[in-house]
Amino acid sequence: MRRTPLVGGLIAGLALTLVACGSSSTTKTTTTTGTLAGRGPITFATGKDLSGNMQHQVDVWNAAHPSEKVTITELPADADGQRQQMIQNATTKSDAYTILNLDVVWTSEFAAHQWLAQLPQSQFDLSGFLKPTISTGQYRGKLYAIPSASDGGLLYYRKDLMDKAGITTPPATWAEMFADCDKLKKLPEAATAGCYAGQLDKYEGLTVNASEAINGAGGVVVDDSGKPNVNTPAAKAGLDVLVQAVQKGYIPKAALTYKEEDGRLAFQAGKLLFHRQWPYQYSLANKTDGSSKVAGKFAVAPLPGLSGPGASTLGGHDLAISAFAKNKATAADFIKYFTGEATQRANLIATSQAPTIASLYDDPALVKQFPYLTALKASILNAKSRPLVVQYGDVTAAIQEAAYAAIAGTKTTDQALTDLQTKLSALIK
Ligand code: GLC
Repeated sequence: MRRTPLVGGLIAGLALTLVACGSSSTTKTTTTTGTLAGRGPITFATGKDLSGNMQHQVDVWNAAHPSEKVTITELPADADGQRQQMIQNATTKSDAYTILNLDVVWTSEFAAHQWLAQLPQSQFDLSGFLKPTISTGQYRGKLYAIPSASDGGLLYYRKDLMDKAGITTPPATWAEMFADCDKLKKLPEAATAGCYAGQLDKYEGLTVNASEAINGAGGVVVDDSGKPNVNTPAAKAGLDVLVQAVQKGYIPKAALTYKEEDGRLAFQAGKLLFHRQWPYQYSLANKTDGSSKVAGKFAVAPLPGLSGPGASTLGGHDLAISAFAKNKATAADFIKYFTGEATQRANLIATSQAPTIASLYDDPALVKQFPYLTALKASILNAKSRPLVVQYGDVTAAIQEAAYAAIAGTKTTDQALTDLQTKLSALIK
């Protein structure tokens, strides 16, 4: 047997567990929590909530903290748009955003520019958090952000059609996946479906997907010491998988405009056989309210690689406090509530998003409900970081530029990665 299936099935009847709040409500007078002072209403600047549960989590807090209410300020759905708006806010020293829901790759940049309040380590117990998530909130050994959600890429696949075609295990390599597609496409139900999509539009999602293709072939964008090393045969072989897949039609042309939600809608409409996506899709695609045609029909597996299983890029979000905000003591308490075990457990049950607290991955009741948790934990523990650099904006733009040129066919893979190496070497000293 070439591979082991991870999970099939459907999440049925998810009970929403209400959580108790971590701190009591307080008066309007300024109190100090370490260096984080001030209590009162605050805002929570966050990318558009794709999971649909965030307002509920905030409502639970607000009901218990009438004088320290949190208002969500919704930023764009895509990471680049969020980053731009947060930076605009920070460079004008505006106090409009109190808590920032940072993508895990932005902490260095935001901390180095002194846009974040440093968090006292003694106030935040991170001992139960997954190790790789903890360092995403640190810069030069100091704490700036608390991991609230992790993310690891998963291969969603149409288990119903695989069963029908007599394929008993999900693909571990790209070649196996394309071969499976050839077989599946012979089924009348799959004749018009695309084989594969991920996040291939020119934005942060492409940095994630291109890095995964490169890492899955044994290449790197930057090496362990942080030095760019992307002009290599392994990196080229990795990116070339995507390039060839577009050329051969395994990746539909439309997928070159897909961000997370475009791909999710295509998968849910039955238009994709395989889809690289984050865990949040698991609950939404299993909804039986008519929004998904594939509820109960799919399963998830680890990402494919070139000659064996691939590796995910580490995703996720951390909560930080804007250096320019008022009511930082309230913000600190809200962060403790939002990242605490009870809130993360309830959020996992409601949304299938990846928690940052390790024990939730080993909880038998949760593993029963979300059988992929064990594999997801392994995927997060083995995930590769994107370059953790102060000039992250320029670095990701260069990666996106090169990867998009290659998959859209305006540059050869070879030229694209040669140029990328030159650019990254100038950016990362
Ligand atoms: C998800 C990940 C984040 C990543 C983004 C890319 O939101 O959690 O880390 O940058 O997708 O689109």
